[in-house]
Amino acid sequence: MSNYDEHSSPSTLQPMVIIIGLILVFALLVALFMGKPAGEDVVPVVASVEENIKPVAVAEVAPASEAQVEKSGADVVKGGCAMCHATGLMNSPKIGDAAQWQPRIALGYETLVKNAIEGIRTMPAKGGNPALTDGEIAAAVAEMANQSGANFDPASLAKK
Ligand code: HEC
Repeated sequence: MSNYDEHSSPSTLQPMVIIIGLILVFALLVALFMGKPAGEDVVPVVASVEENIKPVAVAEVAPASEAQVEKSGADVVKGGCAMCHATGLMNSPKIGDAAQWQPRIALGYETLVKNAIEGIRTMPAKGGNPALTDGEIAAAVAEMANQSGANFDPASLAKK
């Protein structure tokens, strides 16, 4: 099909490609070793290379996996809510104290979840961790309240 002259390519193009390649490799080595006497100057080069690579990995991998894996209620409580609710810090209803939870449980599961998500009085929104999903908060509320006299089922909210 094409009438490309194959005899001129090995004799002229190939050495050119090799020379350009060597120049590129040399330039790269110079760039890498220029700052070397200072010792740690190599690190920023590596760091900036990592920065250039990072966004791709963060944007495509992390959100997908985080969005799919919901933490269990027990994990959410352990990882945050317990900081206050395990001991009753700041007058929060203490996990396991049915008397403290009873008037709150009486508000109903949905209301408690809403209050935990939005925050109420000194209870911070989502327990101060905005990364938690509404489903994770609902699971954590059930986890705490069910140890304190309630019988909440996170699946009952998930269906809505
Ligand atoms: C910084 C301390 C703190 C953290 C962390 C915290 N809470 Fe609370 N929480 C409180 C306090 C204080 C109250 C009581 C607020 C009030 O009634 O005045 C409360 C109340 C509640 C209530 C009852 C709300 C109502 O309507 O009476 C629920 C439910 C609750 N928290 C859920 C959670 C969940 C779920 C988490 C973790 C994701 C969490 N809390 C993390 C301090 C905290």
